[in-house]
Amino acid sequence: MEFKQVSNLDFNISRVTLGTWAIGGWMWGGSDDQQAVDTVIEALEKGVATIDTAPVYGFGKSEKMVGQALQEFGDRDEIRLATKFGLEWDDTGNIQRNSTRERILKEVDDSLRRLQTDYIDIYQVHWPDLETNFAETAETLQELLDCGKIRAIGVSNFSPKQMDEFRETAPIHVCQPPYNLFERGIETDVIPYCKENDITLLTYGALCRGLLSGKMSKDRTFNKGDLRRNADPKFQGETFDKHLEAVERLKKYADNNFDQKVIHLAVRWILDKGIESAIWGARKPEQVTFEKVFDWKLTDKQVKEVEEIVESTVEEPVSPAFMAPPE
Ligand SMILES: NC(=O)c1ccc[n+]([C@@H]2O[C@H](COP(=O)([O-])OP(=O)(O)OC[C@H]3O[C@@H](n4cnc5c(N)ncnc54)[C@H](OP(=O)(O)O)[C@@H]3O)[C@@H](O)[C@H]2O)c1
Repeated sequence: MEFKQVSNLDFNISRVTLGTWAIGGWMWGGSDDQQAVDTVIEALEKGVATIDTAPVYGFGKSEKMVGQALQEFGDRDEIRLATKFGLEWDDTGNIQRNSTRERILKEVDDSLRRLQTDYIDIYQVHWPDLETNFAETAETLQELLDCGKIRAIGVSNFSPKQMDEFRETAPIHVCQPPYNLFERGIETDVIPYCKENDITLLTYGALCRGLLSGKMSKDRTFNKGDLRRNADPKFQGETFDKHLEAVERLKKYADNNFDQKVIHLAVRWILDKGIESAIWGARKPEQVTFEKVFDWKLTDKQVKEVEEIVESTVEEPVSPAFMAPPE
């Protein structure tokens, strides 16, 4: 495993982070508890020291599974726990953004309890809440930092303008936007902004929700409630065909040039674009093959060749905007 120092902080993160949205089941067509815990432990055993979760993933379930795995594995101080706040849900599963001081103070204690720990390493605003003054959110996070409940402040799905506004009140140590070979929108704004301002990038959706796993096929069926069944435009009709075609070409490229699988090429590409840590979501222990991303690299020329394969196959890129909760 490779590690990177987090800007301005005294801890490092692993260059692959385990993503635990799917193990919460919500929007992924359900999940199995034992498999969920085993997946987290498998990742920790393979040296993945950073885990990303959120209260909304399964309405507390993902955090609980991570907490249980941590108890079984031990070594808390060697693990970086990243979680989030700011998405409130009701009994019917409706979601709304809420990053008020009152909500944060409640959420942080709920997360600590579910994760069975007394500090969170990276605490992130899940989505910008446009109805709450960013200064209120930032000030509350600064307080949590000062009292040691959290060790770093993060924002997710923020634009550079929104980060500028937030940073008038408190620092941002980590930024979590979407990024993978099919979703490259942040290259023109968020990445340069984070590089200029010494903000660590922890990017999500490394496999584009499994599209880049190399195991996806046209006849794959998704459980009821899995966002890929109806909601995700990349998994529908001709758009799906184009993405699968690109993956087939990438498979050949990975095999011919590196004797590697497309899944590992997709994550290696993210790291070689200068991203500090790529979040790879997994929900079964056998999906944790993160170790194969290390000890090889793409040259600048190969980075371009890989991008050319995608650009010439998927001529009209589809953004991940469908995932945004209502503003
Ligand atoms: N901040 C945010 O707003 C935000 C939004 C989205 C995600 N995230 C974070 O980023 C993480 C990763 O994103 P993601 O979960 O959306 O998607 P992802 O990493 O792009 O894809 C994850 C899915 O790919 C499939 N997969 C993984 N490893 C595989 C393997 N070895 N072989 C075959 N299939 C494999 C699994 O789905 P199947 O087995 O079902 O095919 C898995 O659930 C999340 O878990 C979450 O922590 C954050």
